[in-house]
Amino acid sequence: MPKKLIIGVLASGQGSNLQAIIDNVRQGKLNAKIGCVISDNPAAVALERAKEANIPAYYIYPGEYKTKLSPEQEIAYVKCLKEYKIELICLAGFMRILHSHFLQTFKGRVINIHPALLPSFPGLHAQEQAFNYGVKVSGATVHFVDEEVDTGPIIIQKTVKVKENDTPELLAKRILKVEHQIYFQAIQLFAEGRIKIEGRKAKIVVRNKE
Ligand code: GRF
Repeated sequence: MPKKLIIGVLASGQGSNLQAIIDNVRQGKLNAKIGCVISDNPAAVALERAKEANIPAYYIYPGEYKTKLSPEQEIAYVKCLKEYKIELICLAGFMRILHSHFLQTFKGRVINIHPALLPSFPGLHAQEQAFNYGVKVSGATVHFVDEEVDTGPIIIQKTVKVKENDTPELLAKRILKVEHQIYFQAIQLFAEGRIKIEGRKAKIVVRNKE
């Protein structure tokens, strides 16, 4: 068994994606260890889920801004992740933009899950944006994080059909289920060293079964 990939999860809210990662690690479908979980929200359910799973969990003050970490606090986040020797950072409903210090420190090692088929509907309320636009298909995307919002190379996407009698809430629920299926798969690909970034593209190395 190859060495486990040590991941850090950043989450601001419910943490259902974190839970799916925890469950897949437990079931042996993901060769990773969650080194620590950090939240910018002291009331995040994600922190409770981490504690229940005996994972070190921290609220770290994000600074005075609403949508990003302040430069000083970004340093505090990086310090914590380094202490746990984190090799891949997984944003799971983390509601703040990361800047160059963080992204340069962990270059090519920060991924995110987004509840739409990027590059359509980036940013907040993606499920509702897609629903209101009237698309017939939406879905979820796991992608690398770069300096812009939701623009980095795409690792995995999976579609979800929009039904005629849908609501934004029902659609969001079905998309969330798909998120839980694809996030751990993307992490496993990273753990296996099978993702190669070439310019805009994240290429998946296909391995022949012996
Ligand atoms: C998910 O829909 C994720 O795609 C988005 O925020 C939501 C987080 O959900 N970025 P949870 O906290 O993982 O339950």
